[in-house]
Amino acid sequence: MDLYNVYSLFDVNIVKGEGCKVWDDKGVEYLDMYGGHAVISIGHSHPRYVESISSQVAKLGFYSNSVINRLQEQVAETLGRISGYDDYSLFFINSGAEANENALKLASFHNGRTRVIAFDKAFHGRTSLAVEITDNPKIIAPINSNGHTTYLPLNNIEDVRAELAKGDVSAVIIEGIQGVGGIRIPSSDFLKQLKEACEEYSAVLVLDEIQSGCGRSGKFFAHQWAGIRPDIITVAKGIGNGFPVACVLISPKFKPVAGQLGTTFGGNHLACAAVQSVLDTMDCENLLDNVNSVGAYLMQELAKIECIKDVRGKGLMIGLEFEEPIKDIRRKLLYDEHVFTGVSGTNVIRLLPPLSLSMEQAGEFIERLKRVLGM
Ligand SMILES: Cc1ncc(COP(=O)(O)O)c(C=O)c1O
Repeated sequence: MDLYNVYSLFDVNIVKGEGCKVWDDKGVEYLDMYGGHAVISIGHSHPRYVESISSQVAKLGFYSNSVINRLQEQVAETLGRISGYDDYSLFFINSGAEANENALKLASFHNGRTRVIAFDKAFHGRTSLAVEITDNPKIIAPINSNGHTTYLPLNNIEDVRAELAKGDVSAVIIEGIQGVGGIRIPSSDFLKQLKEACEEYSAVLVLDEIQSGCGRSGKFFAHQWAGIRPDIITVAKGIGNGFPVACVLISPKFKPVAGQLGTTFGGNHLACAAVQSVLDTMDCENLLDNVNSVGAYLMQELAKIECIKDVRGKGLMIGLEFEEPIKDIRRKLLYDEHVFTGVSGTNVIRLLPPLSLSMEQAGEFIERLKRVLGM
């Protein structure tokens, strides 16, 4: 059987990882400035993560959501404390797209409405409603195109207010920082105004923190830089450090209804072991402090490189926009300098390294990038 060929692959077979480094099958070492698409948070094969999952699978890998799972309660307690949302409740699911599906379902159950406001260049996933609210017609199949979504420009509150005033908007969904869209940051003022407007028109504000959350921006959630509290927050990627798990954080204004949401795998024992070790490691290793200091250093050094048109981002979620397409730069970084990076569109390189990236590794990246740029 062949693999269903939907990915454009680099000719590299990664077989081992440790911290911010990965190795291919020929033993070549790479610096991972991509984190497997913002997924690796505490670092590859972190000893606490390995121990937590290994010891859990030796005891019990899975049982269904029809029995008490104390590990879920423990994760909820830790996540509530670390994120500052201990009054919210937690629903576990398996992927980012599913987290957004459930967030929008909850919103619609809550206010009985069906329309969603999303933003230009938004990416929220590839399943039914998640893809319908994603601003990329190429990945929306006809069966997913059901007219629920209105896309509006980022950072323009008047447009949002005009739509909300029609009275039929169920939810407004926005990324803490747009990732796939090219590291575009909603302004703090815009987020505050959005929160106010949603309250005024009884629409649910959903913050998609799937890429920008779990410490990547230097606060646990990127929207916390604006000091707002959304109604629902979706989290995936970094929260599992590679284990497929996602979380929906739900404000106390929603009351759970038995059977309304559900999942086979969500919050299983192994997923909880993974998340618990991620949260404990973030705490013990003060990873938020590291993200802020290493992120600031990277931004400062990158801003000195004249051929980069724009450097933007927060913490360790950084976009480098060039005048020309970056395909060649990225290939040279990988094959000549052995550095993994991400991409947005044609002209933006995305940096999404593990949150444990050291100053020394950040400096090493700058050196290698400069060599590729002929400096
Ligand atoms: C902001 C955002 N939302 C949702 C998703 C979808 O997550 P998943 O691929 O786990 O379904 C992604 C994935 O890149 C994302 O960046």
